[in-house]
Amino acid sequence: MRTALKWAGLVVAALIIVVVVAGFVASRVGAANIAAAHAVEVEPVDIPTDSASVARGAHLAGIYGCQDCHGADLSGQVMSEEGPFRLTAPNLTPAGVGGQYDAETWDRAIRHGVGADGTALFVMPSGAYHGMSDAEAAALIAYLQTVDPVANDLPPMEYRFMGRVLAAGPLGLEKGVRTEPTTASSPEPGATVEYGAYVGEMMCAYCHGEGLVGAEADQPGAPYVPDLAPAGQWTPEQFHTALTTGVTPRGHEMDPQVMPWTSTARMTYEEREGLRLYLATLADMRAARS
Ligand code: HEC
Ligand code: HEC
Repeated sequence: MRTALKWAGLVVAALIIVVVVAGFVASRVGAANIAAAHAVEVEPVDIPTDSASVARGAHLAGIYGCQDCHGADLSGQVMSEEGPFRLTAPNLTPAGVGGQYDAETWDRAIRHGVGADGTALFVMPSGAYHGMSDAEAAALIAYLQTVDPVANDLPPMEYRFMGRVLAAGPLGLEKGVRTEPTTASSPEPGATVEYGAYVGEMMCAYCHGEGLVGAEADQPGAPYVPDLAPAGQWTPEQFHTALTTGVTPRGHEMDPQVMPWTSTARMTYEEREGLRLYLATLADMRAARS
């Protein structure tokens, strides 16, 4: 009996050592992933200076979610303090990191997910923005280069022990990094299937999956990201209500932290209508394919 207990104790002690060593090793691997530099060649885009392009860029910062994470005035915010990370969306104005960026480094951060120091930008959805056209990226950068400086000192992004362990594995640290060249062109914004397809397959597909067929969420605890073909069959009123207030036809209130309807609410009616017209084609398109 006593020897049996002794052996059991030794086995438990050995298991604890294995777990501690594995955690330590994983945290080292994670730290190396976080610090890894990614080389990305970007073709410089011509940055316009006319007021119409700058105004379009400001609108894009609203509808593509920059304001949701980096704040309405883009001066940044701590998005969450609890758990494995302190998640800080940096101050993008000239008083913050914006002061150190030029056209090329802006583009590398936005469409390739790589910061000025070459490391991967965590949570920043560059995997979506990689599908942005040169013309839209140029307008967005033109706007970012004209925003007023806003002083807002923020504590830096921080990976705690569990954050580093997670960064060793399927955390999706690389989800946003895109080293390949950008190729998309953008149709005129408006109530057309073509424009809806452009925005849908760029922004919405990042979570709803390619072809918007639905996908598992990658945020732990977030609801399943549904197929968008059913929403294409909603009435125009139901669709615009859901994408401006977060309330679906069944009365379900969507959390803007998991479904960014605050961004779609900033679209013009015609831009959202383009999305609706595109989603309305999904059911037929899939039927034709199968
Ligand atoms: C879902 C939230 C989210 C959205 C949407 C988002 N960002 Fe970010 N962004 C972040 C976070 C978090 C970081 C910090 C990442 C890091 O340091 O690993 C970041 C980093 C950046 C950086 C690098 C800053 C630095 O430290 O060098 C730039 C530039 C940037 N974002 C621009 C934008 C622009 C422009 C948009 C809109 C087109 C945008 N972001 C949309 C969350 C977001
Ligand atoms: C950051 C991830 C994310 C992005 C980006 C995103 N969605 Fe969603 N979406 C979700 C999640 C998660 C849900 C489920 C929310 C819930 O059940 O509360 C959802 C739900 C929806 C619904 C409700 C569907 C239903 O049948 O109830 C619609 C409509 C929708 N999204 C449209 C869009 C459109 C259009 C875009 C692109 C402009 C988009 N979403 C981009 C995550 C996302």
